[in-house]
Amino acid sequence: METNAFRCNKFCEIPEIRNMRIALPNKLPQVGHSIFTVMSQKASELSALNMGQGFPEFSPPEELMKAVHSSMEAGFNQYPPMPGYMDLREIIAQREQQIHGNSLNPESEITVVPGATAGIFTVFQALIQAGDEVIIIEPAYDSYRPAIELAGGKVVGVSINFQSNIENPELFESSEVVFPWQKLKESINEKTRWIVINTPHNPLGFTFKETDWTQLWEIIQNYSIGIISDEVYEHMVFDGKKHVSVLNMPELRERSVKISSFGKTFHCTGWKMGYIAANAEITQSIRMVFQYLAFATNSAMQKGITQFMQLNPNWETELNLFYQKKRDLFLRELHGCDSINSTKPSWKTLNCEGSYFQVLKYNTQDIPKLGEIKSDLDMAMWLIRSAGIATIPIDSFIQGQPQTGCLRICFAKNEDTIIKAAKLLNQVL
Ligand SMILES: Cc1ncc(COP(=O)(O)O)c(C=O)c1O
Repeated sequence: METNAFRCNKFCEIPEIRNMRIALPNKLPQVGHSIFTVMSQKASELSALNMGQGFPEFSPPEELMKAVHSSMEAGFNQYPPMPGYMDLREIIAQREQQIHGNSLNPESEITVVPGATAGIFTVFQALIQAGDEVIIIEPAYDSYRPAIELAGGKVVGVSINFQSNIENPELFESSEVVFPWQKLKESINEKTRWIVINTPHNPLGFTFKETDWTQLWEIIQNYSIGIISDEVYEHMVFDGKKHVSVLNMPELRERSVKISSFGKTFHCTGWKMGYIAANAEITQSIRMVFQYLAFATNSAMQKGITQFMQLNPNWETELNLFYQKKRDLFLRELHGCDSINSTKPSWKTLNCEGSYFQVLKYNTQDIPKLGEIKSDLDMAMWLIRSAGIATIPIDSFIQGQPQTGCLRICFAKNEDTIIKAAKLLNQVL
């Protein structure tokens, strides 16, 4: 096929070579443009408010940017040590201890990586062997599936059930996500090697509690199965609750990997900075791959983040409230103060326990002038055209894209943007 072959005649003088094609493999045939690109393009085409893509509207703290800048000027511009500077790994270990009660050896159990996505990719390359089955819980962050497949693994998707939401909205009155424990149990077999958990969860906003981890342990304890725990939203947990990391659970700790993102924690998603934590043996396997994948992570940013963390011991714990206020503002504006007594339909929302995402449940009967809506994508497209607001359809996080009746918005925005978003959404009801 022309699109899968590259003609080299522009560069070649030798006639036999001039017309030779090289066959380009398509390693990810199922993958097209990401929904984030599609919705963001549509938003800019229609000048719509972009509440879809998940990044903060605000800058990282000034002090952090200055610390990075002065680290460059101080000469931190060449290769740092492969697993990260020791002072950064030390402050990460201190914070893990103070905030979560996790005891980690900075020498052998922490590796600084260029963002969580690269961290996840490295972990899968290092720990998955050809034919291994890896369970992901869907809806799922979009990088898991392709990264597992590129590592030679087979993805087994276990979906959270949305059926009642579509067929009978009243059945979905509870705003809690019901975790699919039974389906998870039934998906395990002798080839299963890893289960990927994401807490707080993107896009649904639920969190794993101690009882959930215990239940997971009871399911896997007699198998050779480990946990890869994506905890990039660990410092965005609301209503006084505490983030419970997989590393908090003594039985799970020895067979688990935690992945964290500085991009999420310090409002600098474009810097692509994060870390991986796991016991020394697992870390050793991960570093073997990492040394050939990226080798190391941006030196000046490591130094800047270290300095900022040393001087701001409360940043991460204060982030919970910072984002909780944004969630609450959005919900207040969306539902209005008098919604309890009002007969006007309003958007239903899923309980957001953590992350910077809020799920909206749409009920097609509540919206006049709505054409035929066969998928969440149809709904998101209708909304962007009719209300001028971009959201992300939840079906795009699930293989096969079954309609869920839900959309995701990102509330990592300034107050006026959050208020405007709620107004635009309410205008269509
Ligand atoms: C669940 C989840 N994991 C990982 C990432 C990626 O983090 P990073 O930007 O550090 O690569 C994201 C970003 O959206 C995410 O939502």
